[in-house]
Amino acid sequence: MSVTARSQTSAGSAGWLAPAGLLLLGMLPVIAGAFRLEQLSGISDAMPANPRFSPVPLPVVLHIVSATLLSVLGPLQFVAGFRRRWPTWHRVAGRLLVACGLLVALTGLWMTLFYAPPDGTGVLLFVSRIVFGSAMLVSIVIGLAVILRRDVQGHRAWMARGYAIGLGAATQMLLLMVAEIVAGRPNELTHDSLTALSWVINLAVAEWAIRKRHAPRSRATKRSTAHVGPVLRFVSPAAK
Ligand code: HEM
Repeated sequence: MSVTARSQTSAGSAGWLAPAGLLLLGMLPVIAGAFRLEQLSGISDAMPANPRFSPVPLPVVLHIVSATLLSVLGPLQFVAGFRRRWPTWHRVAGRLLVACGLLVALTGLWMTLFYAPPDGTGVLLFVSRIVFGSAMLVSIVIGLAVILRRDVQGHRAWMARGYAIGLGAATQMLLLMVAEIVAGRPNELTHDSLTALSWVINLAVAEWAIRKRHAPRSRATKRSTAHVGPVLRFVSPAAK
């Protein structure tokens, strides 16, 4: 195999790395959601019932189903090679995922406003759910509006932001699990701060990747960003 062919192959497989990581991370809340759906449908009681959901379970069911589709199919939308090879898939799945993303955010906001707040949480969780749930909604709407005007760069950036906020659910589970292992059950302020921090982390990573992609690239920057190639390729097919 020639050096060029070898480097193209490794660039291609590296382009899958970040989306594969996102898929893996997204499986945390998806698995929790599957247990909740089993509990709500009476198939299994592996997860204890939550009396806050029981009177009106539809929003949480819609939330879990749409979030599952978003977490499973979403990462593929960011794989440049796949998008180039299967443009129709990107368009058809994209439409479904826009609907799922909007449903995740809308049901998340509905549950924040109308379900009783979870025990051991406070106003910070309430406010951050409203802020980030609305930000997810707005990002997806802008991402859709700009692609209708053929602004591919803007579309990629806004969809990456919307997806990063959605994936906050997974970062929260990870961060709260680690915190509990290290320091025991978090109190209200720690719990709510870690939840908000997870969204901030996800958005910061998305913003960093978007900005790297748009920054002018000298030979020196190309050398210094070589190690983040997979992340750049994730938000941009043009990043080599
Ligand atoms: C892809 C992203 C997401 C996934 C996979 C996800 C997953 C889940 C799951 C599995 C539950 C059920 C929890 C349980 O059974 O106790 C849930 C509940 C909830 N989610 Fe999400 N979620 C996502 C995004 C969001 C976003 C962006 C918001 C923003 C507002 C949100 C707000 C909520 C709320 C308010 C609840 C009710 C849970 C409670 O208060 O105890 N979710 N989510």
